Amino acid sequence: MNELRILKIGGSVITDKREGAFEKLNESNLEEVCRAISEDWSGLIVVHGAGSFGHPHVRRYGLSSHGASKVHLACLRLSERFCSTLTEFDVPAMPIHPFCFFRKDTDLMCDLGHIRRALENNFLPVLHGDVIIGADGVEVLSGDDIVVYLAEKLNVKRVGFATDVDGVIFGGKVIKRLRLGDIERIREEGGRREDVTGGMIKKVKRVFEMKNKKVYIFRGCYENIRTFLDGGDIGTEVIV
Ligand code: IPE
Repeated sequence: MNELRILKIGGSVITDKREGAFEKLNESNLEEVCRAISEDWSGLIVVHGAGSFGHPHVRRYGLSSHGASKVHLACLRLSERFCSTLTEFDVPAMPIHPFCFFRKDTDLMCDLGHIRRALENNFLPVLHGDVIIGADGVEVLSGDDIVVYLAEKLNVKRVGFATDVDGVIFGGKVIKRLRLGDIERIREEGGRREDVTGGMIKKVKRVFEMKNKKVYIFRGCYENIRTFLDGGDIGTEVIV
């Protein structure tokens, strides 16, 4: 098996996340992503976001047990579409649903052996943003948190975040290499700029929780995913 890699596909890549979109797939992007993955998936773990199959549901239904049940079922529908599309490209996707797979007291916990066995048995494990039961009740578990957790626990050396932007953009340009020290500067100088979103800064800060890995943030199109899986540099490399 190749060295382990993790690829997060943002919900904004595979679903329509525009204002008002509710459970709307972006079918052509989904196909493109799955085709790219199908060409090189050995030793790979995929995590996808919830996009318009999760965030609008949390807003509409909340996180009581009744609400969370509805949110989770919508996440399952997206997972089913994602994994079915992978199987259409001959990839033996194994859906793993975080609501039933993770526990959280202060830290996340799961049966890592299950993922290792899936990989050993030639499956592509596919996890996703979901709800989970934490110490204080139900909470949202983002795919990014799953990536950070699995990358650390499974000692993954190569991590990619496929998003709907070309990387971390500052002053209209993609930053090729980003260090922790750059974040404060970007926040101070760029906080008011439209191209540095709060969402991206939050994502990047989480990325820095990982250590000793090659981490990339890039646009989730066919060529970029292929480059990432091929071992090349793409988008913004976050130096962790
Ligand atoms: C969110 O997951 C999960 C729910 C809202 C239930 P993510 O945070 O990974 O989703 P995206 O990538 O932002 O859409």
